[in-house]
Formats: sequence, C-alpha cells, structure tokens
Amino acid sequence: MPPVEHLYIHIPFCPKLCPYCCFYVEEGSRNKNTAFVEAVLTELDTHMERRPVVPRTIYLGGGTPTALLTDQLELLFTGLRARLPLDHLVEWTMEANPATVRAEKASLIRQAGVTRISLGVQSWDDATLKTLGRVHSSKQAHSTFDILRSVDFPAINVDLMFSVPGQSLEQWESDLATTIRLDPNHVSAYCLTYEEDTEYFRKLTSGKFVQNEAHDASLFESTMDRLGAAGYRQYEISNHARPGFESRHNLACWEGKEYLGLGPSAFSTLSGNRIQNICDTAGYVARIKSGASPEATCETLDAATLLKERIAFGLRKDSGVPEDLLGNWRTEAAHLEEIGLLERRDGSVVLTRRGRMLADAVGEAFM
Ligand SMILES: C[S@@+](CC[C@H](N)C(=O)[O-])C[C@H]1O[C@@H](n2cnc3c(N)ncnc32)[C@H](O)[C@@H]1O
Ligand code: SF4
Repeated sequence: MPPVEHLYIHIPFCPKLCPYCCFYVEEGSRNKNTAFVEAVLTELDTHMERRPVVPRTIYLGGGTPTALLTDQLELLFTGLRARLPLDHLVEWTMEANPATVRAEKASLIRQAGVTRISLGVQSWDDATLKTLGRVHSSKQAHSTFDILRSVDFPAINVDLMFSVPGQSLEQWESDLATTIRLDPNHVSAYCLTYEEDTEYFRKLTSGKFVQNEAHDASLFESTMDRLGAAGYRQYEISNHARPGFESRHNLACWEGKEYLGLGPSAFSTLSGNRIQNICDTAGYVARIKSGASPEATCETLDAATLLKERIAFGLRKDSGVPEDLLGNWRTEAAHLEEIGLLERRDGSVVLTRRGRMLADAVGEAFM
C-alpha cells in the first residue's frame, strides 16, 4: 500500500470552552498530561505497523494544541520527529489560541519544524471578543501575532469570525482592515454557524439571538471585496491566501485524498473508509494503553458518496468541479447555471459571486 501522506492530530484541550464551539474539546488539565501525548504516539506506531506514513502535510488541530505545556509539546515533537520521515514534508500547521503562546513556546514550536501557524484571533475588537466568550483580549492577540512574526514562521493564518451577534458592518470592516495591515499570508474568515447543542444554538432557538440574512450577506460581500482588493485570493469560500500560501493540508482533504487522524474524536479517511476515534480523552488513553483500538465508528464510503463529497467540497473552491465529474447531476448544474448560481469556466463549473453567498444551498443540491 502507498504511504499515507496527510496526518492530522487532534489536541482536545482549551483554556476555556467557547459558547459557539462544537468541536470535541475539554477545559482544564485533568487529561492534559504526558500519558495523553504518549497515547497519540502509540496510536501512530500502531498505524505505521500496518502502513507507512510519509507526511507531505501535518496538521495539529483541536481544540488548542498550544494549550499543551512546554514539556508536553517537547515530548510530542520529539516523538513525531523520531517516528516520521520528514523529507517530503511541505507544510506543518499548528493551531494556536492567542492566550496560550508566549515567546519561549513560539520558538520551541518553530524549532520543532512547524512551518505554519493558524492563530484564532476571531476579532480585534474587545466587545466582539467578549460576546464570543474568548479568553484573550485584542491587545493579547496583537502581541501574540508579533511574537509569531518574530520567530519567523514562513506562513501565518489568522482565523476571523463574522456575523457575531451585535457585530456591525463597521466593526467587521475594521477587523478586516486591521488584519490586512498586519499582512498575514492567509486569512480564514468564517461566518458564525449556530451548531446544535451549543449555548449559542440555545440562545438562537430561544430568540435571544436573531439571525439577519441580509446583514450576514453584506459582511460576506465586504470580506470578498476587502480581502480581494488587498491581494488575497478566495480559493475556498472561507479561505483567502496570498499566492502560494493556500493550506495544502486542507486542500488535500477537500480533494478527497487519504488522511490519517490521531487523537480523540479525530477522523481518518483511509482505504475507502471514514473512521472516527472515540470522543472521550480518558477513554482514548485507556484504550490505547490496553492495546485496544480507539476507533468508535467506521463507514465504508461507496463511489457515489465519494463523488458527492468531491462535488460538494469542489464547488466551495474557486477552481470548481470538472464538468465531466457531474454525471447524473448535469440537470441540477444546468438549472443552477440558469438561475445565476453556477457558471462554466475552462471545462469546470464554478460558483458565481451570488452562488458563493449561497454555497451551502448549492452544495446541498448535489447531495
Ligand atoms: C478548531 S478552532 C481551533 C482554533 C483555536 N481553538 C481557537 O479557537 O482559537 C478553528 C476555528 O474554527 C472557527 N470556528 C469554531 N467554531 C465556529 C463556529 N461555530 N462558527 C464559525 N466558525 C467557528 C474559529 O474561527 C476557530 O478559530
Ligand atoms: S478555543 Fe477554539 S476549539 Fe476551543 S472551545 Fe474555543 S473555538 Fe472551540
């Protein structure tokens, strides 16, 4: 079997749980220990006994990987470097929360080989950060950004969120202007999603929060206009990059390439199967320690499902979907073209500007 080329590691720890977040995460240090890091490395060993892992991309996500303490990070990096051949590695990303990175930790991460930091700023406005329940202030985000710059990460992404309750167009445009002035080479700008089973979702359903589609659309339009004018290409609905700084890991996942996910709740797509590990950190560590599998579910992806996913993810990218992949969906595509949501370009179908604003609905037409 060919080697697995894309590796994701889920670090489920956060300094504080955000009221809108639906990722599998936990607050505090109960399970944040050496045993957790050792379990992740053991899980990697088990996979490598069955199939080589020669990463082109590594993504440490979460949760908040920078929430790990310095000695835990050292153990993780040393363990990964001892196990993985890194001569084909083109991108090593790590997600960071501004409240959890000091200069010493930033240099350690850079020296370990991480090439790309994704900083969860969300907003440079203290009132918006308060609404989002973030642990960091705008001042802290600025100083963390400066620290990351000073240790020379080749690529820095800034995560932002818009359509936050109470956020005006002016506040959002000021967030965009500040980001552009700081000049990261990648910006992820996410429209707030009300995920089921979160405090935000409950506030929406109880009427405490109200959505306004027209307002959300104006914020999204402004995002495209401002970042586009500043030289960022919207290569995916929520992702904007300077040329050459697109996230190769995320592109590989969206293009349906195989990836191995380690850690609690992590997904893998391997040999036509979508596997998910258990969403329970202590249970994950216990299973690994006892030699049991941490897998909770395994779904076989048939050709039709793989194709649907390729079309849905493909349409979110600016390169779109090659027309010859459309098969039975040609009629849907023609209809969406007629109503101005899709257009043909160089043998592919791509979202129009209006289509980008309704991307989720367009994707669903192919499901
Ligand atoms: C998995 S989080 C990791 C980053 C880090 N934990 C943090 O929050 O700073 C990745 C990003 O997803 C985005 N995100 C999380 N929940 C979201 C939601 N409900 N709607 C939109 N974006 C969300 C945020 O921008 C966040 O930075
Ligand atoms: S810090 Fe990031 S991963 Fe953690 S709860 Fe907040 S949004 Fe979710």
